[in-house]
Amino acid sequence: MAKTHTPKASELLFPMPRTVEDREGFFRFHDGITIAIDSAFKALKETAPTLLHVLMGGEDILVKQQAGFSSEGYSLTINNRQVVIKASKEEGAFRGISTLRNLYYTSDHRLPCCYIEDSPSFAWRGFMIDCSRHYFSPTFLKKLIDVASLYHLNRFHWHLSDDQGWRIPLEGWPELEKVASKRTLLQYTDGRTYGRLYTKEEILDIQAYAHARHMVVVPEIETPGHVSSLLAAYPQFGCSGGPYEVQDRWGIFDEVLCAGNDQVLEFLEDAITQMASLFSDPYIHIGGDECPHTAWESCPKCQKRMQEEGLTKAKELQSWMTSKICAMVSKKGKHPIGWDEVLEGTESLGIPQDLIVMSWRGVAGGIEASERKHEVIMCPNTDGCYFDYQHTDDDEEMGNLGVSSITQVSQFDPLAGLKNETARGRVLGSQGNLWSEKITTGRQAEYMLFPRLMVLAERLWNPQEQEKTLNRIPLLYKVCDALSINCYRGPLA
Ligand code: ACM
Ligand code: ZN
Repeated sequence: MAKTHTPKASELLFPMPRTVEDREGFFRFHDGITIAIDSAFKALKETAPTLLHVLMGGEDILVKQQAGFSSEGYSLTINNRQVVIKASKEEGAFRGISTLRNLYYTSDHRLPCCYIEDSPSFAWRGFMIDCSRHYFSPTFLKKLIDVASLYHLNRFHWHLSDDQGWRIPLEGWPELEKVASKRTLLQYTDGRTYGRLYTKEEILDIQAYAHARHMVVVPEIETPGHVSSLLAAYPQFGCSGGPYEVQDRWGIFDEVLCAGNDQVLEFLEDAITQMASLFSDPYIHIGGDECPHTAWESCPKCQKRMQEEGLTKAKELQSWMTSKICAMVSKKGKHPIGWDEVLEGTESLGIPQDLIVMSWRGVAGGIEASERKHEVIMCPNTDGCYFDYQHTDDDEEMGNLGVSSITQVSQFDPLAGLKNETARGRVLGSQGNLWSEKITTGRQAEYMLFPRLMVLAERLWNPQEQEKTLNRIPLLYKVCDALSINCYRGPLA
């Protein structure tokens, strides 16, 4: 009888670890497998048995603390009797558990013997979900966080406010729930509304779930544009005073936060203070993208502010506001992040040096920011990082505004175009962004995210030659099947 080919570990791993040594034999993962975890890794004792569906009380899988690994680094040894994970930090041990779990799915529970040593290329490996245009349920967000962590992603950028809905619970601002969180669905004639806030309990729960998977949560509050929902709730924050509506159309809207109104700054200070205590991780994203300045040009309050501050162009008001908002974030001990428009109108004024710039309109903003000594996150819509874009240029394919093919994602290099080692050193990493204008269900979101997000994850963990990545895409389908994920399986180009 012909011997069936037992795949080697190096044929089953995605992302590919830094080094893999294939060995003979395999470890069969059956019911009743036991795990022992070093007492130094307290949180892992809670999560690992559930994630792997194994029991405490024996040493079939052994997780040990050992000096000498980077914080996310680990080694994984699989022989036919035992699996051993070694790491210095709990985070590294978790990455090792994720690799093991991934291999469990791709090997049909028959794990090939191997020795792996691993650590990441980039520190920032993320994904953004727009929860304004579509409100994604906490259960669904947890599903995404879990599968993202399986691919060693470590940043969940949570887009929580926009023209079409406000999702952040803030005490003392009741109109956010009553007005800003809901929009009238104009496709219907019966006045029905859509949307809700996340509760504090839901946010804390999602955060705890993410932290158990070593995923940092980055909340975003959009300023000073993309604020129709906020203006509908508090019309005094706009230049004209309204009335405004929570938008049920897509686009860029001229009415933005009035830069001449001190009440706006007071609101932002309170919002950021409350967010800083609700979200425990070190970052707050302050938006900054697509903010028209037309309303400011004809607003007496904004004009007065410009005179007082010695500003000659309306776009400088945006950088003035960015500086104010950054200061609020920094005062709370957090790092501000902004979309690349935050660089505009700053030629004479500058912007706070601690502002991290997220480059989305191509890579030019990221390159300029790094030259100006800012830390940078690259997520160019021109290079495959926009997952609301179609997978292929086919009218019948789902998606919006452009194309991000799997092939394109598999070529993406966050360091492309950066001139020297110093500039490259300021690039923290990258993320895939899912805007949800055209998404109405979690199943559609899965189709847009997978497998592209997994491919991006490999670029950020350990980039492979394009062909090596594309040949291994069926491994991703297999994991999606195991986790009930509705992934795209069409052409790669
Ligand atoms: C963006 O895509 N407007 C950041
Ligand atoms: Zn104004």
